This record gives sequence, C-alpha cells and structure tokens, in this order.
Amino acid sequence: MAPAVLLLAVVAAPPVDGAAAGEKEETHIRVYWHDVVSGPDPTAVQVARAAATNASKTFFGAVVVIDDPLTEGPGLGSSRLLGRAQGAYVGAGKGALALLMAMNFVFQAGTYNGSSVTIMGRNEVFTAVREMPIVGGTGVFRMARGYAQARTHTLDLKTGDATVEYNLYIRH
Ligand SMILES: *[C@@H]1O[C@H](CO)[C@@H](O)[C@H](O)[C@H]1NC(C)=O
Ligand SMILES: *[C@@H]1O[C@H](CO)[C@@H](O)[C@H](O)[C@H]1NC(C)=O
Repeated sequence: MAPAVLLLAVVAAPPVDGAAAGEKEETHIRVYWHDVVSGPDPTAVQVARAAATNASKTFFGAVVVIDDPLTEGPGLGSSRLLGRAQGAYVGAGKGALALLMAMNFVFQAGTYNGSSVTIMGRNEVFTAVREMPIVGGTGVFRMARGYAQARTHTLDLKTGDATVEYNLYIRH
C-alpha cells in the first residue's frame, strides 16, 4: 500500500523545473562596468565608423567591440573583479548620442561564477538612468528576463573612459 501511495505522490507532484514551474526568483546584482578606450590596453576598441555625415557628432554609424571588466565597487584597480561585459555597442542615433548595446555579462567570480546574462537595448548615454532589457541568460540565469538600469559613475570627456553603475533585476 505504502509504495503505491508514494508512487502516486511522485507522479502527481508538479514539475520543479521547466516552464511549468514559472519564474521563481528575482535577483538583484549591482556591478560597475569599465569602458577603457584610452591607454596601452583598451577594453573597448572601435572597429568601424561611417563616413562623416551631419550625424557624426552623435557617434552615428560607429561600432565598438568591448571586453569590459565588471567589478563589485567603482574602483577598477581596487575592487573585486566579478566578470566581463563582452559584446559591442553601435552608434544608432542620428540626432542624439544613443547606443545600441548588445553584450553578455559573464560572471567569473562570486555566487554567479560561470553564469551569464544577455543585455540588449538602447543606451542614451547622457540620460541619468538608462533602462535596457535583459533578454536571456545561461547557467543559474537560464531562461532569464529582466532589466538593467545604467547610471554613469564617472566619464572622462578627454579620454572617453567611463565607469557605469549597472543594476540588474533578473527573473529566472
Ligand atoms: C548637412 O551638412 C551639409 C554640408 O555641411 C549641409 O549643407 C546641410 O544643410 C546639413 N544638413 C542638415 C540637416 O543639417
Ligand atoms: C570560477 O569558476 C571557474 C570554473 O569552475 C574556476 O576555475 C574559477 O576558479 C572560479 N573563479 C573564482 C574566482 O572562484
């Protein structure tokens, strides 16, 4: 009798993973994203640029490939490295500096080591808070969705180097 009841319970149990289980967790992660364009070891390199147009001032038609460090705190040299932002951004605004960001945040330390999330969205750089969709993930973030909010922490207008605070709100 007991085994049959047990078996029934097992069969009737709701799935614990997969789509039917729904999204269980919302995780908030804050990282600092460092776009180093100057110096001998840049982490962001421009690989294409459109011929000069009236929209050149807004970076329209430029493509930059990035492998930017992500750190726990704002200091690039002093703060723990959590991972990398790998991908590209494209100047996609003619009238204003508005980038298309397409990047994977790859975690290489801490709780999420080995997992990643993919961010793809619009980044109007001179706006205080830029919101971008999180469109997927791997590892613990498999099937993720959510959003990222980016706030410029420092921007060196001479060199172009920037540190941006990213807050990620991820359902997975
Ligand atoms: C674009 O630049 C050209 C050449 O400088 C100029 O004649 C034209 O008026 C500009 N167009 C706009 C929309 O600013
Ligand atoms: C992250 O995970 C990799 C692969 O398991 C491991 O080799 C590495 O030491 C880990 N890094 C940290 C900082 O824990």
